[in-house]
Amino acid sequence: MATAWFGPSPDWILKHRTEHPSAKTILLTGATGGIGLAVARRLLSSPDEHLLILTGRNAEVLRQFQREYPDRVRAVQCDMADLGQVAGLVRQCEVHGSLDALILNHGTLGKCLRLAQMEGDKGEEWERVFKVNVTSCVVMISEALPWLRQTKGRIIFTSSGAAQNAYPSWGAYGASKAAINHLTMTLKNEEPDVTTVAIRPGVVDTAMQKDIRESFLSNMDERDQQKFRSAKEEGKLLPPEKPGNVIAELAVSAERELSGLFIR
Ligand SMILES: NC(=O)c1ccc[n+]([C@@H]2O[C@H](COP(=O)([O-])OP(=O)(O)OC[C@H]3O[C@@H](n4cnc5c(N)ncnc54)[C@H](OP(=O)(O)O)[C@@H]3O)[C@@H](O)[C@H]2O)c1
Repeated sequence: MATAWFGPSPDWILKHRTEHPSAKTILLTGATGGIGLAVARRLLSSPDEHLLILTGRNAEVLRQFQREYPDRVRAVQCDMADLGQVAGLVRQCEVHGSLDALILNHGTLGKCLRLAQMEGDKGEEWERVFKVNVTSCVVMISEALPWLRQTKGRIIFTSSGAAQNAYPSWGAYGASKAAINHLTMTLKNEEPDVTTVAIRPGVVDTAMQKDIRESFLSNMDERDQQKFRSAKEEGKLLPPEKPGNVIAELAVSAERELSGLFIR
């Protein structure tokens, strides 16, 4: 998917930033579904006229954003399991001259296998989950830091309660989210000019929850299976807009005091 500057010409962005001084330039991953889609919609509907670099693998959803917001959205198709592609993402910031926030929201559960089910796997499953959920974030952050320092910007992670609850068969996913929480603390201490926050969104009505119910329950303990089944049956799943709106607000205005925290 081709990427150019925001607006019809390179001069447009300067004019836009002058006319809308509150407009932030934000790179959002996992923008094509669930929580990320809600974050993108919230930011795009803001009167601040933010500029968004949106990523995911689903080209059709990305094209739709680009059609709806031809000047304010740059959509970049990227598979987070391919670190060569990931490195190219942050180069978008050079084109656009600024970056105020990185929202690292993409995530995969992987195959949800217990350790005893991984014999012969040679570590590939954990490596893939860590590549998508953790290493891709590290690559983007290391490249984005010069920009984020300049703007005293923000990094917002979509983490998970699984970082603290060890559900059987979710080891790779939970450990990767625990790594994200640790990364959040590391960034707080290493980068005083950047505010970094990890959020735990709750149990949210997205494709990921559907995958859990339809494909991944069999390896889980009975009690956990019941929890995820009944959340849907009893209407307890949160709409994606609920955490999505919080993530969008944090990307624009999280206070420095929140840096390093894993928040609900
Ligand atoms: N739903 C919940 O209950 C819940 C609870 C705790 C935490 N979370 C976290 O919330 C975040 C968003 O998940 P969601 O619930 O909104 O699920 P979702 O609807 O399945 O969305 C996942 C997003 O991540 C992207 N993604 C996944 N693998 C990718 C890859 N290899 N390369 C690029 N993009 C990739 C997907 O994009 P494409 O499909 O276009 O590739 C999609 O935009 C995740 O980090 C998840 O761990 C969710």
